[in-house]
Amino acid sequence: MHGLVSRDLLRDRTVFVSGGGSGVNLAIAKACASVGANLVICGRTEEKLKAATKELEGCGAQAAYAVADVRDASAVAAALATAADRFGPIDALVCGAAGNFLAPAERISSNGFRAVMDIDLLGSFHCAHAAFEQLRQTRGTILFVSGGQSQMPFLHQVHVAAAKAGVDQLMRSLALEWGPYGIRSNSIVPGPVNGTEGMRRLAENMTKEVWTEMVPLGRFAEPEEIGTMAAVLISPLAAYVNGAQVVVDGGMAMSGSSG
Ligand code: HXC
Repeated sequence: MHGLVSRDLLRDRTVFVSGGGSGVNLAIAKACASVGANLVICGRTEEKLKAATKELEGCGAQAAYAVADVRDASAVAAALATAADRFGPIDALVCGAAGNFLAPAERISSNGFRAVMDIDLLGSFHCAHAAFEQLRQTRGTILFVSGGQSQMPFLHQVHVAAAKAGVDQLMRSLALEWGPYGIRSNSIVPGPVNGTEGMRRLAENMTKEVWTEMVPLGRFAEPEEIGTMAAVLISPLAAYVNGAQVVVDGGMAMSGSSG
């Protein structure tokens, strides 16, 4: 976390992060942990979750995990119930769980397209739906992790583009519908981030140099830079931010299609 951010920014708040066992989502969880939040992460792979929970505790947080595939609504509901049992109703939900692979549109099977839609879009809905009652109690907030593909087509990402565009519209719809309950909904749109599984997958198409050329700032983000912005959006500093798609991509969205 950036040294200018108060160590008490999220003191005693509880943040639930789907897909929090690795990558950008773990960076978001760590940023929240380092400014006082309690963390609950969920994902499919217990080993990853265990290791990530240790990292979060190393940041000074109380942390717990729940094994759940976001495609399974009842598993998600159970994970959120576990969080409430441990820490009380959550203050923030981060919908980060995502799936990705590179493939030309004509080679993606119905099942392949559906797998990504189900993880990214339906999975985000499952999390928000299951968290609603807790967030209503705390007047909490939801942060969706979107992607640049939702605005600008990337080659061989038709399934992800469709899913992330859906995630952004889910976010806006909930901002409208749940705003009156005091629940804010926003999305964060990371650009290329160093050391993440998502970039490893996308790098099969283009080298790091080509990606970097598309970024006006001339470099990839560090995971902590995404985490810091996410923690601020979750915090009371963003109390009047609702329905916003916050792009944290070094200006890449302005540089045109990646194709
Ligand atoms: C074509 C593929 C494929 C590929 C999988 N499929 N990989 N099709 N090319 N490379 C097809 C399979 O053939 C199958 O269809 C269907 O997708 C489901 O595959 P399964 O492996 O059975 O599903 P599952 O185990 O549920 O895996 C889901 C997944 C996988 C999305 C396919 O990649 C996954 O679990 N990913 C999670 C981790 C991840 O992706 N992390 C990166 C997220 S980063 P058939 O028809 O054969 O049954 C991210 C942001 C990046 O999303 C943004 C950067 C800017």
